[in-house]
Amino acid sequence: MSAAAGQNVAGAVTGIGGLPYNLVFPKHTTAGMNSRLGALQPYPFQRLADLLQGVTPPAHLSPIRLSIGEPQHAAPPFVLEALAASLKGLSQYPVTKGEAALRTAIADWANARFQLTQHPLDPERQVLPVAGTREALFSIAQAVVDRRAHADQPVIVMPNPFYQIYEGAALLSGARPYLLNTTEATRFRMDVARVPEDIWAQTQLLYVCSPGNPTGTVLTQADFAQLYALAEKHDFLIASDECYSEIYFDEAHPPVGLLQVAQALGVRDYRRCLVFHSLSKRSNLPGLRSGFVAGDAAVLEQYLLYRTYQGCALPPPTQAASIAAWRDEAHVRDNRAQYRAKFDAVLEILAPVLDVQRPEAGFYLWPRTPIDEGEFTRRLYAEQNVLVLPGSYLSRHAQGENPGARRVRMALVASLTQCVEAAQRIRAFLQTL
Ligand SMILES: Cc1ncc(COP(=O)(O)O)c(C=O)c1O
Repeated sequence: MSAAAGQNVAGAVTGIGGLPYNLVFPKHTTAGMNSRLGALQPYPFQRLADLLQGVTPPAHLSPIRLSIGEPQHAAPPFVLEALAASLKGLSQYPVTKGEAALRTAIADWANARFQLTQHPLDPERQVLPVAGTREALFSIAQAVVDRRAHADQPVIVMPNPFYQIYEGAALLSGARPYLLNTTEATRFRMDVARVPEDIWAQTQLLYVCSPGNPTGTVLTQADFAQLYALAEKHDFLIASDECYSEIYFDEAHPPVGLLQVAQALGVRDYRRCLVFHSLSKRSNLPGLRSGFVAGDAAVLEQYLLYRTYQGCALPPPTQAASIAAWRDEAHVRDNRAQYRAKFDAVLEILAPVLDVQRPEAGFYLWPRTPIDEGEFTRRLYAEQNVLVLPGSYLSRHAQGENPGARRVRMALVASLTQCVEAAQRIRAFLQTL
């Protein structure tokens, strides 16, 4: 156990990044089951349900949910038609690698979107379709983490707050999560200078999320270059979660991505880089379960072997629908216009009464709350029937603070009318505090 990771007390790993992770002994695991399950935290929406238990919202106000990041704009009709037209494909087993036509559509999209002109993605070796980025972000850790490689436990570095899958993936792979707080003080970026050398030495994977959930921060070329330099120096893989990359405000300035930066740095074969993209937010198809992973061919070759055993091939109609979606940009521009209108309208109502900023991208607001975030959430629901998510449910206490405390996450996923109505109710609620 390294000094930076604290003491090893009866198998309990404590103190890494100031975190109490008990990775060794089960807390509540059923006998005979994987003891690491005992380290998993309850999912934020379970905690929200617990928080709101027994609270009855006013019946005369319709419920408005800003708590879940589930896109609610209409799915593109031509994608649904492609899905319906391919139902006969259900009588075949799909291959895990996906059909060549899908991998080509994905590579064409990514090459155009990220200007990968010098090193265009090879659909044969550098692209894998996945059943949504969630499962892929989870399974990549299971495939990559090598528990024999370090005498101490391997480490996965990730932001705090974070998409909950990163933590669960790390814990179940047998790695220790090392959390880096992303707060106003760090301009909502991971302050990588805080990571001790002995932690870097044990790091096998780094999750980064850009645009970020929940902060909306977009990493710059320089931010990605800094991460890449660390990955080279300390021999780890970067998993760049870019599933919000198509939800941005300025049509002329889309968020930069890891592969784009790798190409600019002259990285051959996107070594150490994997990007994760999804149709869920880009194309309003969260139920389709379709996305892709692209980058380092050597990693993807082994990851495909892993995935073959996991059994997560995309059904043929899903693949056909995905080809149609990746090949169209008009619906994505329209989607962005809808979000832009909602942020304009909601911020006009909330900015005068709440400490809230327009995010750089994505569809979340991450305001500071004038009272405790749990109390804010419960009272807002009790008085206005509007649901938000306490920020601390998305983060852990680390480095002496909980970066989600005194914040809530609001997903502007409902219709413009509903978002405006929600903003007015939140404003009315704030005026009672
Ligand atoms: C940061 C982040 N990554 C990944 C996902 C997973 O998206 P999907 O599995 O639908 O591609 C989500 C979903 O909310 C997310 O917020």
